[in-house]
Amino acid sequence: MSPEPITLLHNKRVILGVTGSIAVYKAVDLASKLTQAGALVDVIMTQAAQQFVTPLTFQSVTGRPVYTDLWRAEGSSALPTHIAHVGLGEGTDVLAIAPATANTLAKLAHGLADDLLSVTALAARCPLLIAPAMDGGMYQHPATQTNIETLRARGAYLIEPDEGRFASGLVGKGRLPETPALLGHIRLAMAQTGALAGKRVVITAGGTREAIDPVRYISNRSSGRQGYALAQAALDAGAAVTLITTVRDLPIPLGARVVAVGSAQELHDAVLEACRDADALIMAAAVADFRPKTVAAQKIKKREGSDDAPTLELTRTADILLSVKAARAQSGFPRLVVGFAAESQDLLTNARAKLERKGLDLLVANDISATDAGFEVGTNRVVILDAAGGATPLELMSKTRVAEAVIARVAAE
Ligand code: CTP
Repeated sequence: MSPEPITLLHNKRVILGVTGSIAVYKAVDLASKLTQAGALVDVIMTQAAQQFVTPLTFQSVTGRPVYTDLWRAEGSSALPTHIAHVGLGEGTDVLAIAPATANTLAKLAHGLADDLLSVTALAARCPLLIAPAMDGGMYQHPATQTNIETLRARGAYLIEPDEGRFASGLVGKGRLPETPALLGHIRLAMAQTGALAGKRVVITAGGTREAIDPVRYISNRSSGRQGYALAQAALDAGAAVTLITTVRDLPIPLGARVVAVGSAQELHDAVLEACRDADALIMAAAVADFRPKTVAAQKIKKREGSDDAPTLELTRTADILLSVKAARAQSGFPRLVVGFAAESQDLLTNARAKLERKGLDLLVANDISATDAGFEVGTNRVVILDAAGGATPLELMSKTRVAEAVIARVAAE
């Protein structure tokens, strides 16, 4: 399945600067994924980069001309030669140099401009991302570290290299991160001017687990995907995101602060803590309403020769949104509270009552009786209710798009 387009990157102009490192093969994948995400990717290769792969490789994955020469802009009728370096930089939303060699870092730090990439970097006024990649010794060298500090102080976004084994066989820090991480950093850099820049958003995800004994628990069918999509959408809007989650097997959106919890009580405590200074809380988690009254200290065993089964006595869990409502009445935080409602009947009536009872600003109501919406599927069909009595139905769409619609509403409140 091809990845879903990324709204933040759609029709955005990305210049990918590629320099001479064995890690250029990862840049090919990055160029491909950026293109699939909807970005218009112009690749600039240095001479050294062309020793590893040809421009045709990048041209094939981006479907656009690749620039290699300061004096010739081959294949580009849109960009006459004499303004290629300025033209490339000017209309661009982000300039990402990945991999960036020690030599390129040094040139950028000192403002040298002797090839198309270094000239473009000087001319560009968009955010500059740099992903250094080199042997560990070169990366740790004071000259390289000083250059990195210079660039960082000047506002460049430096991506920390990974540790691991190099092509040389040596082990250390200096490997180019994998594509998902590079893509995540590009998203974070582009989100800095988003509608939620400077805002703190707390998001909960997944179904809680209520222990029966040390190996068993009661849970529900929530996958956590809607919550994770909300976290990514909030990050794409520039928010500082705390993701409180019961889920262990979904990739964490890069940049989110993660708090791992299990039970409704743990989620309750983590939410109240995180909300003390939050601008918004979005409660997408499916919280258990009941838990076993007692948790057996040892695994509950069958009795030999008996068909007996234990009877579980249940008790109510705390309603987290009601606790948030009480805390908010005292402190004013979180400034905005969004709930979710999973209903199998009388969607709007039940949802409206829930919004009022829980003191919510927005409520995302979800009809779980539909087979193409709700738990365990990639799509959702929701209605967004607001405290003023409004109801906005959204058509059937992916959980990513639902998340973006909810975040847009949060930003507009
Ligand atoms: N919620 C909560 N604490 C609970 C249960 C639910 O904060 N103990 C939150 C959910 O995260 C969601 C909203 O309340 O944002 C509505 O959840 P839902 O399960 O639809 O409603 P309940 O309050 O549990 O009511 P019911 O199950 O009776 O419909």
